Amino acid sequence: MKATAIANANIALVKYWGKRDKALILPYQSSVSMTCDGLQTVTTVEFSAEHQEDQILINDEELRKDSKDVLGHIERIRQLAGIKEKARIVSETNFPVAAGLASSASGLAAITVAATAAAGLALSERELTILARQGSGSACRSIAAGFATWHRGSREDGKDSFAEQIAPPEHWPEFRMIATILTEAKKQVSSRGGMAQSVATCPYYHQWAATAESDAGAMRDAILRKDFSAVCEIAQHSALKMHAVMLATKPPIIYFLPQSLEVIHHVLSWQQEGLACAFTMDGGPQVKILCLEKDVPEIQRRLKDIPSVIRTVECRPGAGARLAEKHLF
Ligand code: PMV
Repeated sequence: MKATAIANANIALVKYWGKRDKALILPYQSSVSMTCDGLQTVTTVEFSAEHQEDQILINDEELRKDSKDVLGHIERIRQLAGIKEKARIVSETNFPVAAGLASSASGLAAITVAATAAAGLALSERELTILARQGSGSACRSIAAGFATWHRGSREDGKDSFAEQIAPPEHWPEFRMIATILTEAKKQVSSRGGMAQSVATCPYYHQWAATAESDAGAMRDAILRKDFSAVCEIAQHSALKMHAVMLATKPPIIYFLPQSLEVIHHVLSWQQEGLACAFTMDGGPQVKILCLEKDVPEIQRRLKDIPSVIRTVECRPGAGARLAEKHLF
C-alpha cells in the first residue's frame, strides 16, 4: 500500500480566485493554465497499520497537525477506498513552497495520484481532477499535461467541475514561463483565506468573476491556434483583474512587493519596444513572464540587470501528474 507520484505546478493564464462552495471547492469561474515542467513535487504515500497517526514531511519539515487541507484530503481518499490505515507521506519540491509558485497545486496533485494508487483505487483522469480539486482547487489543473482548463461547472455535487487538457506539451513546445524569484519568504495570506475574504468583501467580485468565462474560452482558442499575442493580452489582463479584486478586499490583500512592481514596469516597457512577453502574478510576490523560446536569451539577459531578481526558474509546458517507480522511503 505504497505509491509515489510526480506532479508539476501549473501557472494560471486565466485566474481562479473564489469558491461558490468551500467544502467541495467549486469555483465561481473557469480557469486555464499551463502545467510547468520545471516546478516539481515528488510524493510517496504509504498506508500501513504500523503507522499510529498520519505523518507528513514536506521538504524534511513535519507538517503541522492543524494543516486541515492535506490531512483532510488523506481522510477523503481513505473513505473513498474504504480503508482505515494511517499514512506516512514524504514530499519533496524543487522550488520554494508557499511563495506564489503554486506549490499547493503540485503538492495536492502528487498526493492525490500517489494516495489513490497506494489505497488501491483506479480512477480516470477526470475523476482524479475532481478529487485533486477538493484538496486544493488549482491542483486539479496539474493532473493534466500541457495546457488545461478547469470548468467551473454548475452542479451542486461538483461532478461537472473538473479539469481537462486543451493541448499536450508537444502542441506548443516553444511556449515559456520564466518565474522571477524575488524573495524566498513564505507568504502571509493563504489563498484559501484570502479568496473567501474577496468573495465576502470586494464590491466588484461578481462582476470580475463574470468576465472569466469569456476569458477562459478566448484563451482556449488562442492556445489552440498558437496565437501568442492573444495569450499575452488575455493572461496579463486576467492577472491584473484578479489582483484588483485582491486590492479591493477588506482587509486588503497586497501580494505586490516593490520588487514585483519593478519587474512589472520593466516588462511593460519591453512590450512598448515590441518584445513579445507578458507578466502574470498569483498569490505571492514572484512575477512570472510569459514568452517564446526565441526571446528567452534576451529576456534572461535583461533580468540579470535587475538587482531584485535573485534567480529565475524557466518552464516549458510539462507533463501531467503520474506514478513513479522510485519511492522516497
Ligand atoms: O487553489 P489555490 O488555493 O492554490 O488557489 C490558487 C489561486 C491562484 O493561484 C492565485 C490563481 C490560480 O488560478 O491558480
